[in-house]
Amino acid sequence: MADVTLTNVRKQFGTFVALENLDIEIKSGEFVALLGPSGCGKSTTLRMLAGLEFPTSGDISIDGRVVNDVAPGKRDIAMVFQSYALYPHMSVAENIAYPLKKRGVSAADRKVAVQKAAELLQLEPLLDRKPKQLSGGQQQRVALGRALVREPKVFLLDEPLSNLDAKLRSYMRAELIELHRRLGKTMIYVTHDQLEAMTMANRIAVMHGGKLQQFDTPDAVYNRPANRFVASFIGTPSMNQLEGQLDGALFHVAGHSIPLDRTRFADDLGTGDYALGVRPEFVAIGDGELPAKIRLVENTGHEQIVTLELTDGTRLLARTDAARRLDVGQNVQIGFHPDAIHLFAPGEEGPRLNKNDAASVIPMRSR
Ligand SMILES: Nc1ncnc2c1ncn2[C@@H]1O[C@H](COP(=O)(O)OP(=O)(O)O)[C@@H](O)[C@H]1O
Ligand SMILES: [Mg+2]
Repeated sequence: MADVTLTNVRKQFGTFVALENLDIEIKSGEFVALLGPSGCGKSTTLRMLAGLEFPTSGDISIDGRVVNDVAPGKRDIAMVFQSYALYPHMSVAENIAYPLKKRGVSAADRKVAVQKAAELLQLEPLLDRKPKQLSGGQQQRVALGRALVREPKVFLLDEPLSNLDAKLRSYMRAELIELHRRLGKTMIYVTHDQLEAMTMANRIAVMHGGKLQQFDTPDAVYNRPANRFVASFIGTPSMNQLEGQLDGALFHVAGHSIPLDRTRFADDLGTGDYALGVRPEFVAIGDGELPAKIRLVENTGHEQIVTLELTDGTRLLARTDAARRLDVGQNVQIGFHPDAIHLFAPGEEGPRLNKNDAASVIPMRSR
């Protein structure tokens, strides 16, 4: 068990700033996802924790000890990569035992450790096979076994499921959640897949452009996104963000006015440009004042995603029942659930301006 802390970490490659002002405190036993688009600095962060890269400035500590100058092998961590790189000529048992062999652990002790890891990962029937006789999911489990066998304090996983097909990914997600529950170890999991982060992690560090955007529970990043980037990155389809003008308790968009409950927002908001955010599940078709035209209806079987166009050409999405009859070209009036409205300052990283308690979880049925 170990806590992991990054304090004011900065990482430059030459003149390129890959990470700045990174402050993350991970509690012992926590499952934390580092989530963000490709190139945002997730792997660099993980590699610094592993000791494979060094911060340009700032501190990294594991279990209360600053490890900036501690070699990877002495950090008590294990890392699992996207490409699991098993040794093809070795059996599953030999692959799992390899890190122990390298450290001079005796054959008898290796056998016990391999047996334990194999039990945990249900690999016992496969111990004598070679990697090429295994499915992708089984190979990934062997890679996990190889990490597990050293009994590290901290597991670092870099997109470990991204080479697997969708069905296997969802199966492995469940396995990893279960594994974390059983081991109780600190796990830090890099992914660009919000579904993985939302379903697996206790907390999610959302990153963008080398900066931490928000570090909070899945519920909070979904229902109380810190800024427009988080609001658009978390959720499929994304939260609608309408550019408009705030004037007292009215938000003007596309030549119409949406009344707001001003008590839900910061008191010092002036008149001017803001963005109104509302998730597609809280856009009501046929219940509201805003005129719109239906442009597209996508029925997934259990719901419909409806593309709507306002009179000024602005598009937004609504999510409705699959059974509802909606026609492309139809003119409708739409409205937004008042408790589900977010206000943001302008700009991509414009902060959310709701009072902190506002717009937490609203029951889906009330849409
Ligand atoms: N060794 C390196 N030299 C130069 N630039 C690098 C190096 N490693 C990563 N980068 C750059 O740093 C940024 C973050 O990379 P990375 O941490 O791999 O992103 P992610 O894992 O989020 O996709 C990218 O722009 C990448 O090109
Ligand atoms: Mg990466």
